[in-house]
Amino acid sequence: MNADRRASACFLISAIAAVALGVVYARGGQAQAEGLLLAVTSGGIGAGIVVWAKASTPHDEVTEARHPLASSEAEVAAFTEALAAGERALVEGKGRRGVLLSAGAALTAFGAALLFPIRSLGPRPGRDLKETPYGDSLPVRVVTEDGRPVRVDDLPVDSLLTVWPEGHVDAADAPTLLIRTRPDRDLRVEDGAGVVDGVVAYSKLCTHMGCPVGLYQAEEGLLLCPCHQSTFDVYDAANPVFGPAARPLPQLPLATDDDGYLVATADFMEPVGPGFWDRGR
Ligand code: FES
Repeated sequence: MNADRRASACFLISAIAAVALGVVYARGGQAQAEGLLLAVTSGGIGAGIVVWAKASTPHDEVTEARHPLASSEAEVAAFTEALAAGERALVEGKGRRGVLLSAGAALTAFGAALLFPIRSLGPRPGRDLKETPYGDSLPVRVVTEDGRPVRVDDLPVDSLLTVWPEGHVDAADAPTLLIRTRPDRDLRVEDGAGVVDGVVAYSKLCTHMGCPVGLYQAEEGLLLCPCHQSTFDVYDAANPVFGPAARPLPQLPLATDDDGYLVATADFMEPVGPGFWDRGR
């Protein structure tokens, strides 16, 4: 088998492997098979290029005698004639068309295979990262894990209670900390954030990497995240005062309904949890 055929064979094997890779991926994927096929796809292209390049490169040592640089009239005439007849292009392309076609097929298939991972990114999250069930129907009561609504009097000063929007106690993005602050301490909250008799509500999801923030040092008014020790100041709009978290815990505006139960009057004032590429509302 001559070098051109060997190179074509490498490119064709690469193209077939790329198609097989697409089939395996479309049928649900199998990591080992995909890795093997990807290796054959890229290896086939590489081997084909090497084989072809070696065959196309002269291997003998040639010494060209110095000669006059100017072409003779006869040489000029011969070249002009050959060019006009298209013989030059024909001679160069003749034996290599097959290699070029197979190389084109291999590179096209390889390029298509590289596009497959885009599908693995999954569906666009839409507004799921920016909204929680609190915004579904407002105002909404806040309830404990067993569905019990909460009054201010259920919360002694310095106490902490985890609540969810009524009907969504399993919502992973909605756990909320209710904290009854001390009446004799200054309390700063976000503009427009409702506070009822010293009760404030913050998202329980750490703004560093989303761990539940559940440790409350009432004496200092500090909330601690156990994962990487981010610490948030309850009396200063839950701003971070220590650790890797860079954003405050989002605040939930509170009020009471006609029966005296605590309700959320809006969704959290910022998207909850860790930051992401497009965090603004
Ligand atoms: S997840 Fe809370 S500090 Fe890292």
